[in-house]
Order: sequence, then structure tokens, then C-alpha cells
Amino acid sequence: MATLRIPNRNVTLRHPSALRQFLDARGIVHERWSAGSDLAFASTNEQVLAAYDHVLKPFMEKGGYQTVDVIRVDGNTPNLEVIREKFIREHTHSEDEVRVFVEGQGLFWFHMDGHDDEVFALLCEQDDLISVPANTKHWFDLGDSPNVCAIRIFTNQAGWVPHYTNSGIDQRYHW
Ligand SMILES: [Fe+2]
Repeated sequence: MATLRIPNRNVTLRHPSALRQFLDARGIVHERWSAGSDLAFASTNEQVLAAYDHVLKPFMEKGGYQTVDVIRVDGNTPNLEVIREKFIREHTHSEDEVRVFVEGQGLFWFHMDGHDDEVFALLCEQDDLISVPANTKHWFDLGDSPNVCAIRIFTNQAGWVPHYTNSGIDQRYHW
């Protein structure tokens, strides 16, 4: 279950209903999914997609999503530092960024224009679905020991191109 942290207010939210209320107020979709079958450690991409197919398919049909893939990042990933750098700088996308965490964890940082420039972090773990709304400033922190497997759901993969803000705000916050 995800944990939400608001560093500037020294607040941490763990209770599902408090967390849901906070995210709802900001237009951020968070759901809890569960695999339809047990997934072995380091399952293939096909096994991952098959295990979540019962929730994935209706979600995609309802939301008009077109494509899906599986991403894995860990200490053995080639070009790890390049990938880390790409994710960890504040950016936006022209479409929603939808991820379902399957293994490991990752930290989504949000920077909300309409809420006093508030910055908060959502630690996502197995079975957390998060949808970062289009044009919302955010960055993704893999942490010091990257280990994450996630399903990525797209309306159009071209819409996921990051538009960097170059604000430098990402350097003021740490996992
Ligand atoms: Fe992003």
C-alpha cells in the first residue's frame, strides 16, 4: 500500500481513506489492483500482463487506453544512470502517466501548481496503480538501490515524451 509524504508540512499519510481523499482532491487516480495469479519473482513480461489481464483489460477499455508494456529497472539494468537521470528531473507529459507497480517500489514526486506549489511524494509498491494527470509537474525517484517492475499503460506512447521544466526543484527533495 502506498505511503504519502508531505515534507514541508512534516506529514505522512498511510491510512487508505486519508490517502485517497488527498489524491482525489488533486485529481490523481490511485487504485489497488491484485494479480489474478501468483507471480514468481522476475516473471516474464507476458506473465505479468497475463496476471493482471482481468483488471487491465476493463481499465483500458473504459479509459480508452491503446497500448501497454512492462518496465523493469534494477541494479543490472544497462544505462541505469541515464534512465535514473531521465526520470528524476521535474517534467510533464501531454497525457496521463499510468503505472501499476508489480514488484519493488518507486517514489513519485508531485509539484502542484494549484495548491500553493505544494510538493509531496507517493511511495508506490506492489499492486498500486497511479495515474499522474497530464500536464502535472512530477518526477520519479528510483532510490539508491533501484528495484522496480511496473506495467505502463498508454493512450499514445508519443504522449509520454517528457517536457522538462528545468526548475531544479527535484534536487531539493530526497527519498
Ligand atoms: Fe513522467
